[in-house]
Amino acid sequence: VPPPPPGPPVFTGTKLVYDDAHPWMPARPGDMRGPCPGLNTLAAHGYLPRNGIASPSQIITAVQEGFNMNGQAARVATYIGHILEGNLLTDLLSIGGKTRLTGPDPPGASVAGLSNHGTFEGDSSMTRGDNFFGNHIAFNKDLFDQFVEFSNKYGGGFYNLTVAAELRAQRIQQSIATNPNFKFLGLRQLTAYGESVLPINLFVDGRKTGAEKGQLDMDTALSFFRDFRFPKGFFRAAEPGGAQGIQDVFAARPFQPGRNVDGVNTFVVDHSLGSLANFCGIYTQLVNTTVRAAYPDPKGVLRRNLNLNLDYLYTMVGSTNCPQVFPYGRD
Ligand code: HEM
Ligand code: MG
Repeated sequence: VPPPPPGPPVFTGTKLVYDDAHPWMPARPGDMRGPCPGLNTLAAHGYLPRNGIASPSQIITAVQEGFNMNGQAARVATYIGHILEGNLLTDLLSIGGKTRLTGPDPPGASVAGLSNHGTFEGDSSMTRGDNFFGNHIAFNKDLFDQFVEFSNKYGGGFYNLTVAAELRAQRIQQSIATNPNFKFLGLRQLTAYGESVLPINLFVDGRKTGAEKGQLDMDTALSFFRDFRFPKGFFRAAEPGGAQGIQDVFAARPFQPGRNVDGVNTFVVDHSLGSLANFCGIYTQLVNTTVRAAYPDPKGVLRRNLNLNLDYLYTMVGSTNCPQVFPYGRD
């Protein structure tokens, strides 16, 4: 039975996380790595199993321990990823591509790992290209150069909230203008804006205070985005964090959800899968449309585990104004 999400750790302050117990090691042949620099780093340091295969509980524990991610953000990301691309029978998710290491798939299920394009992974990432251009996983040097250029131009050499807004706008405009398949619907709008602020909240050393807080230097950025490695002596964030600042970034450069409908530069706004401004819509459509399409008629243990994981996901909402959806009935 999939266990409920682990709670917060006892100590939630800053501490050395690149310690003797968590040496960095390069991925071995067969180790899975994917589109998330945060999870890749945790696997490379052994906070997650180094093969890149983990249960939701292991992921939630690791992001809290290694990065001081807050429980709410940890549960949202983890259960969305697991329900869409994990193995709901073995309770294992690949942080990279599809692999037999997650065990035999439930009949008809995707179980393709976080690298699978179009469910969680999406377009207009900061340092990875769009799937249309052939590689949406590997570190992209040109895109990182643009990350540095924007940090120089708008942040005095650091990535901060001002840079995040300008770069988010730039990446969306680049996708609109060059990717005929550009998709930026509800969940992706949320994750794209969210991922824009994660480096500010979680990649900056937790000992930084005052004017240095929330300012990510380029050596540190490269260490995480390219090498999946904590800088030497890195201390995690000083308080539990996640998407703080997302509303500032959106307010500065607001892009509505939508997609290119007929080639490049044919972007049409589309709120059918919710939007940042309508979080309940994202949750409701995710469960009612996306999950239901992935699992039209689950039976037995699969149905039970889907329902449990959907209960755990619903803790992301935490509001009675957004009722829980039960596509498979209540147990
Ligand atoms: C991107 C999953 C935690 C930082 C992504 C992507 C996925 C993902 C699927 C690819 C989206 C895309 O850009 O197309 C998850 C899951 C997590 C998690 C399931 C579990 C809690 C974290 C943590 C951090 C982080 C703890 C930071 C410490 C990022 C960043 C990106 C990203 C910065 C954007 C990369 C870019 O745009 O180039 N994550 N993530 N994530 N993640 Fe995570
Ligand atoms: Mg992407």
